[in-house]
Amino acid sequence: MPQPKLGGEFTFPGTPFTVHRMGYGAMQLAGPGVYGPPKDPAAALAVLREAVAAGVDHIDTSDFYGPHHTNQAIKAALHPYPKGLVIVTKLGGRRPPDQSWQRAISPAELTSAVHDNLRNLGLEALDIANYRVMGAGHGPEDGSIAEPVGVLAGLQRQGLIRHIGLSNVTAAQIAEAQSIAKIVCVQNQYNLAHRHDDALIGDLARQGIAYVPFFPLGGFTPLQSSTLSAVARRLGAQPMQVALAWLLRRAPNLLLIPGTSSLAHLRENLAAADLGLSPADVGELDGIAAGAFKG
Ligand SMILES: NC(=O)c1ccc[n+]([C@@H]2O[C@H](COP(=O)([O-])OP(=O)(O)OC[C@H]3O[C@@H](n4cnc5c(N)ncnc54)[C@H](OP(=O)(O)O)[C@@H]3O)[C@@H](O)[C@H]2O)c1
Repeated sequence: MPQPKLGGEFTFPGTPFTVHRMGYGAMQLAGPGVYGPPKDPAAALAVLREAVAAGVDHIDTSDFYGPHHTNQAIKAALHPYPKGLVIVTKLGGRRPPDQSWQRAISPAELTSAVHDNLRNLGLEALDIANYRVMGAGHGPEDGSIAEPVGVLAGLQRQGLIRHIGLSNVTAAQIAEAQSIAKIVCVQNQYNLAHRHDDALIGDLARQGIAYVPFFPLGGFTPLQSSTLSAVARRLGAQPMQVALAWLLRRAPNLLLIPGTSSLAHLRENLAAADLGLSPADVGELDGIAAGAFKG
């Protein structure tokens, strides 16, 4: 059966932003360690342009990628932006010269991060800004996020941010943020092997809120599984394509932002939206997490 183009469409709740479910994550365009300029600046621009030419209308970024370089590449490649392109950025972190990832959540830091994003992307307002909770690693930690979300709500009232999302958060933090601002998307770590958010995805789907997995291909530790490879071989596809096709079938509110600095991988990833998975394929792939998930 033919699959809908780029996984079909999704509208961020309460917004005019309708995007294809297959998007693009720009983090891999920064230099090694997500620091410094792209290793191949011409290739970075080519990847961005080809993604948009192929119909991608959802790009995920942050001004702390590079820092600044990733947003500058997006602007260089795509500005003036085509109608309908939704750029989602994130706030809450900074990259000092030692290349570490630090929290930056005071009102002054969040405000200056918004202006950095606006300047480097060449925008007058940010379409969607995610408040990214910076913690020890890539998993959420308990604790109130009311203060920084309140700052973002203030920047939204000033017209600098159109809509607010969250990243690296718990269900309790989402509920807390929803008492302060309307939340249109949540971006947490999730993939075939890392399924801590299974219940949360369903809860957000019932509210019409987008769930956008980061590390959909495993991020810095690419997914590796004999089951994934076997299913891919059977389908005549690449394992990473099967991992993305599985995510598209996981829930209708799931939007993909696979990251790549390579045109070949971009093409593979976009083509994954056309891959049909049978219920038996999905059942087999579901078994991967049962083996990988320890708690
Ligand atoms: N909110 C957050 O805290 C957070 C954290 C991390 C990332 N993000 C966002 O999520 C996006 C996706 O995450 P990610 O880029 O870190 O990880 P990812 O999409 O899971 O994986 C990217 C890695 O897979 C490789 N890759 C991509 N396509 C491939 C393919 N078809 N075959 C083989 N390898 C492939 C990439 O290398 P090549 O460049 O060589 O293709 C890169 O090393 C990011 O770009 C960023 O926008 C958000």
